[in-house]
Amino acid sequence: MKPLLFCPVFLASLASATTVTSRPWGEIDGTSVTLYTLKNQSGASVSISNYGGTVTSIIVPDKNGKMADVALGFDTLAEYREKSPYFGCITGRYANRIAKGKFKLAGTEFTLATNNDPNHLHGGDQGFDKRIWNATVKDSELVLNYTSPDGEEGYPGTLKTTVTYRWTEKNALHINYEASTDKPTVINLTNHSYFNLVGEGADTILDHQLQINATQYNPIDPTSIPTGIAPVKDTPFDFTKPTAIGSRIGVENTQLKNGLGYDHNFVLKTSDDGKLMKAAILTEPKSGRTLTVSTTEPGIQFYCGNFLDNLPGKGGKIYKYRSGLCLEAQTFPDSPNQKEFPSPVLRPGETYRQTTIYQLGVSR
Ligand code: GLA
Repeated sequence: MKPLLFCPVFLASLASATTVTSRPWGEIDGTSVTLYTLKNQSGASVSISNYGGTVTSIIVPDKNGKMADVALGFDTLAEYREKSPYFGCITGRYANRIAKGKFKLAGTEFTLATNNDPNHLHGGDQGFDKRIWNATVKDSELVLNYTSPDGEEGYPGTLKTTVTYRWTEKNALHINYEASTDKPTVINLTNHSYFNLVGEGADTILDHQLQINATQYNPIDPTSIPTGIAPVKDTPFDFTKPTAIGSRIGVENTQLKNGLGYDHNFVLKTSDDGKLMKAAILTEPKSGRTLTVSTTEPGIQFYCGNFLDNLPGKGGKIYKYRSGLCLEAQTFPDSPNQKEFPSPVLRPGETYRQTTIYQLGVSR
């Protein structure tokens, strides 16, 4: 059966023009891992693994129709396991930070890994990004399921999670999240794709123009825990108009110092009304590529690759400092401990729902 290993399996093309193929992508402790590719009729595609629900590539045209992969990542599963700074994955059960790895629910204190000393980050030592998800293909969508047992990484409640990826004819990646629990718990799921709209491996993202639909953000302490909500007006955090990311990143500013650059949650709304809104628009002037992020979430973390440090990525290309950026739709960091933030609590009988759309495009 060996030849089959390298032969893509044609999985779906019936209900939409998007085709889904798959190929084996290694195994972990005897469980096989698969890489799926969702391709539309124009030839634009995304590849996603059921290891961490990781988006490994997003191949889209520039203003002249030239294709490039705009997502940072690696060629092999082994590299994702060994050294990934959360490239493309689903982070959970609680994306972003929880102060000192502690929170209380109904009077009981829970203790989590402090894997980002002194805080908890992205679900802990073995977060959702490091799990093998069950994958099925339905109507050209990739449906991933993961059940996180009660007590996993210190979180209460068995959490049943479904993440559905859809790739449209118009080069939009739709991500739908759903989850339910059998005990009260906290939840914050996101996708951690790193973008460079010139193409992965290109120079820094400092010339990318960013607009964020937020008049407020969460300032942070020196350990990156929010200290409240503040206006962006008259600060380097005002992205209400399209602004080059590099234009103010070097100014003297305590918040830029605390985040080592931009690594902050922007407040899209202060209550979680579940309505889809346009959160951010990113434009890269030379290629003309654009990325519009819409989400139902109340916040979006703008992280500009401050921890990238000459990391060898796909094809041995070197991902240098600030050569990729993330726009992570989420609820606010540390919200289990901050009562004035939208609540991250999920109770039995409720369904957690989130939709985020990464719409790739071009402007001429
Ligand atoms: C998030 C955090 C950053 C960093 C990256 C991963 O975006 O906010 O501080 O930990 O993940 O490197």
